[in-house]
Amino acid sequence: MSPSPRVPHHVGIIMDGNGRWAKLQGKSVNFGHRAGVRAIKRVMYACDDLGIEVLSIYAFSTENWSRSRREVGGLMRLFEETVQKEFDELHERGIRVYISGRRDGLSPHLVRMLEDAEERTRDNRRGVLNVCLNYGGRAEIVDAARRLVAEGVAAEAVDEKAIAERLYVPELADPDLVIRTANESRLSNFLLWQSAYSEFYVTRTLWPDFDKPDLEAAVAEYQRRERRFGGR
Ligand code: IPE
Ligand code: IPE
Ligand code: MG
Repeated sequence: MSPSPRVPHHVGIIMDGNGRWAKLQGKSVNFGHRAGVRAIKRVMYACDDLGIEVLSIYAFSTENWSRSRREVGGLMRLFEETVQKEFDELHERGIRVYISGRRDGLSPHLVRMLEDAEERTRDNRRGVLNVCLNYGGRAEIVDAARRLVAEGVAAEAVDEKAIAERLYVPELADPDLVIRTANESRLSNFLLWQSAYSEFYVTRTLWPDFDKPDLEAAVAEYQRRERRFGGR
């Protein structure tokens, strides 16, 4: 297969480096997370400009609960604030919102807000924002397995399609490109099932500094890649 000049349909971003960014400024980590939210907004506009239709962002992992109470509390407040402040604009722009992750551990107030955002935006068609919040790729596969068992699916009927249909957002195509900021080369439990054949791109840029030129560089690199999917 020749390199694809196509723009990726679905981009996943592991937004890393908020803590390091804050430290460089001599500020608290939650200051970094706030700057990270501003970067999300910029990147969503950039996706729209470049023709990227689906954006998945890793906002909080199932492992991030192990951080200090202060940081986790700050993040949860920031999620509530952001949904409150930003989702009307998302809706007006025609973006459909999905939330991937477990609901347990989140406050009932936040869960209500997230479910309301999903519900309100369900007919939007301009683009998709999939927010991975309290998300773990392993937890997602465990949850799919639990559903198979609960539905009484026979062992012989369990195949890749049966599992894929029970992931959090089965209607989303797999990400074509996964970007990780802050120079770390690992998935950290992000979209494990879906990223089997995604192209992986790492940048040194810390997430709060990430902007349209960084996204363009990632897409340009993606377009130079040769995707083989195991073929020749
Ligand atoms: C990523 O930034 C945001 C979340 C995990 C919520 P970090 O907070 O992990 O930033 P670093 O890795 O400490 O720089
Ligand atoms: C991954 O970043 C999780 C999110 C971006 C939400 P982490 O900073 O938690 O990952 P590790 O600990 O460096 O692998
Ligand atoms: Mg990190």
